Amino acid sequence: MGKLIIDGLKVDADPNKTVLDVARDLGIEIPTLCHHKSLHPFGSCRICVVEKIWKGESTLQTACTYPAWEGEIRTNSEMVLRARKFILKLMLASAPESEEICKLAEKYQVFETPYKHNPKKWNNKCIMCGLCVRVCDEIMNISAIGFAKRGSERYIATPLDEYSETCSTCGACEFVCPTNAINVSDWTDREIKPHPSIFERGLISRPAVSVHFPQAVPNIPFIDKDVCMHFLNDSCGICEDVCVPEAIDFKQKDKIEEFDVGALVIATGFDLYPLMEIPEYGGGKIPDVIDALQFERLLAASGPTAGVVKRPSDGKIPESVAFIHCVRSRDPEHGVAYCSKICCTYLVKEAMLYKQAMPNGSAYSFYIDIRTGGKGYEEFYQRTKEDWVTFIRGKPARIVQNGDKVQVWSADTLSGESIKLDVDLVVLAPAIIPSAGSVKILKDLRLATDEYGWIKEQHLKLRPLESMIAGIFMAGMVQYPKDITDSVAQASGAAAKVLELFSQPELKRTPTIASVDTEICVGCGYCEETCPYEAIKVDERKKVAEVNAALCEGCGACAASCPSGAAQHKNFFKDQIFAMVVEATKDY
Ligand code: FES
Repeated sequence: MGKLIIDGLKVDADPNKTVLDVARDLGIEIPTLCHHKSLHPFGSCRICVVEKIWKGESTLQTACTYPAWEGEIRTNSEMVLRARKFILKLMLASAPESEEICKLAEKYQVFETPYKHNPKKWNNKCIMCGLCVRVCDEIMNISAIGFAKRGSERYIATPLDEYSETCSTCGACEFVCPTNAINVSDWTDREIKPHPSIFERGLISRPAVSVHFPQAVPNIPFIDKDVCMHFLNDSCGICEDVCVPEAIDFKQKDKIEEFDVGALVIATGFDLYPLMEIPEYGGGKIPDVIDALQFERLLAASGPTAGVVKRPSDGKIPESVAFIHCVRSRDPEHGVAYCSKICCTYLVKEAMLYKQAMPNGSAYSFYIDIRTGGKGYEEFYQRTKEDWVTFIRGKPARIVQNGDKVQVWSADTLSGESIKLDVDLVVLAPAIIPSAGSVKILKDLRLATDEYGWIKEQHLKLRPLESMIAGIFMAGMVQYPKDITDSVAQASGAAAKVLELFSQPELKRTPTIASVDTEICVGCGYCEETCPYEAIKVDERKKVAEVNAALCEGCGACAASCPSGAAQHKNFFKDQIFAMVVEATKDY
């Protein structure tokens, strides 16, 4: 096999590769625009030109199409730079509004072009490289767009220049366009639905392949089959082409794995009361009214704005922010009756962080009462109140859009004045509610909950870590709103409870469980239907109900539902209960 010399580096010639591939393997940078790993090279933009020297003769070749035959390649010679400058001058004339082309031109010291821009050109960013057309046709198998007309009148269009029925709004054309010239809404009048990032609380969209969140364990991407074009349209597969370790396997199936365990700790977190259900505060339709978790993401260095607070509507840095406490908390008529416990503290913290990021900005806190319970929290609130944030005692009645501002209608209940305050951004602290996941898991496990859906504990004061079923423990907000300190303490307690359980040579159960009088039982099955723990079953052969003592929690539901009185609760037989009632009421 002959040798190929690229910029003085000698490698084995390999005609199955292109000069571009070999150069990239060697770490040599060659600019490209119309090149895409998943498509056959087309050589249309020509920015990747290199100098080929063969038998003393120099020629220009496009690196993305030229095979890595033997000979010599120069990627940065005088001849190459001259050619790239010429190409960039043509591109500047063709796509003067493309930031990418301007940047590339600047890199090659091209600051103006002698060529004239055609004012009738359909798009001032397009270099007509055709990548969008090829990706739509060859990768997505859709062919919604193509080239129309010829020569200088050429442009990219749908058939008959009408909105396309076949465009799937997948966005591949927009994604691959090297000059940001393409807009899917030019091809279709279908609604383009963003695919919001759940972790970033809808502040940004996420692609079909993504990692759940930056610190996810395991930190590996997943493919969302609901939006991935490979699964929807049997097309694409770009991720498979570009994945260097060849880790993509479209044939993998979701599987449910079952484990036998001796105990469960439920720690399913929480949700916030949905903004859509708060119509007086915009109902989620005013883009600059966000919830506190969204604001938390805006403050985070790993968040969608890299820690710079920008408002969602226009990306402007807000010069004034209103923080609204107790939204739907302590509000039994419209929301929940309980206090969400942590909102005061975290909202004070967020206001403080905003002020630290924007010392000249204004932060207003609308509150009913401030309840910053916890070690050092009250002192933190007092500091914030004195130096950083304006606190207004009053619950806003309405929040409306007012031009590019958001207007908060409220009253200062201390001075009695009504207030209409224009701010750039409003941050709500909606009530904390049980997460949708915990509602499902608690239902599946038949665990008792309170009226709001929080898990019920065996005893709020004496056994606060144990659920109503032996061996199932709880940690964090599955029980009720609590802060990180309390959640960590409870999680440690739950882990200790599990270890305590496992350290015993045998399990002890309470003897006050259900029993069945087989002389009376007719096997009607009411008890079986009623039992929340599946601890009582009718023996179909004997036609009597039998209690599984290991599962029975002694709740008494079977005794209450048994029409014949065969199912009863040990120590609480009907005779015993009547005797207690008689004794307790004999003096009346
Ligand atoms: Fe090679 Fe466009 S990248 S011709």
